[in-house]
Amino acid sequence: MRRSMTSLDYMEKTTMPFANHLVFPDNARRLAAPFLTMISFMIGTGAYAQDADAGRAVFHRCAICHSAEQGENRIGPSLFGVVGRKAASLPDFPYSTAMQNAGLTWTPDVLDHFLTNPQAAVPGTRMSFPGLSDPKDRANLIAYLTTLQDSQ
Ligand code: HEC
Repeated sequence: MRRSMTSLDYMEKTTMPFANHLVFPDNARRLAAPFLTMISFMIGTGAYAQDADAGRAVFHRCAICHSAEQGENRIGPSLFGVVGRKAASLPDFPYSTAMQNAGLTWTPDVLDHFLTNPQAAVPGTRMSFPGLSDPKDRANLIAYLTTLQDSQ
């Protein structure tokens, strides 16, 4: 279907004749605007997409005190199966009173909050770790922690 020539088309054809093949029709330009906004939004939030492999690297900062192996406690309790677990629920780890009384369950959201600033989230915790300020690091790490489960 042929469109009638708009003044914009005319301007493009007369001022940039060599670029004609690059020029979108008017309606495509109008459709493209929200689409491009959406694409850039997706790229933007893509930075926060969870990546368990990247999270494994972040876990190195925890591994000095935490093992990912079931039943292996170090300075901190094993983080195997931690996602979904009640705080201070491993029977063989000497948790602080603060952690025992925190009344938390380690959902991804609660972990995200705790790992941002452990001392602020659970005042009196014995976990002496300053926290992860980068939301992307936390998201990746939590994605990795989620993989530390028995395979079904
Ligand atoms: C310097 C040692 C140390 C580092 C580093 C450390 N933790 Fe801990 N973590 C502990 C200790 C000790 C506890 C027990 C805290 C308490 O009882 O108050 C703990 C507790 C936890 C708990 C609660 C577990 C439960 O069974 O309730 C989670 C979750 C946790 N740490 C995650 C992490 C993650 C993830 C990292 C890395 C970003 C990390 N920790 C880094 C020492 C550490």
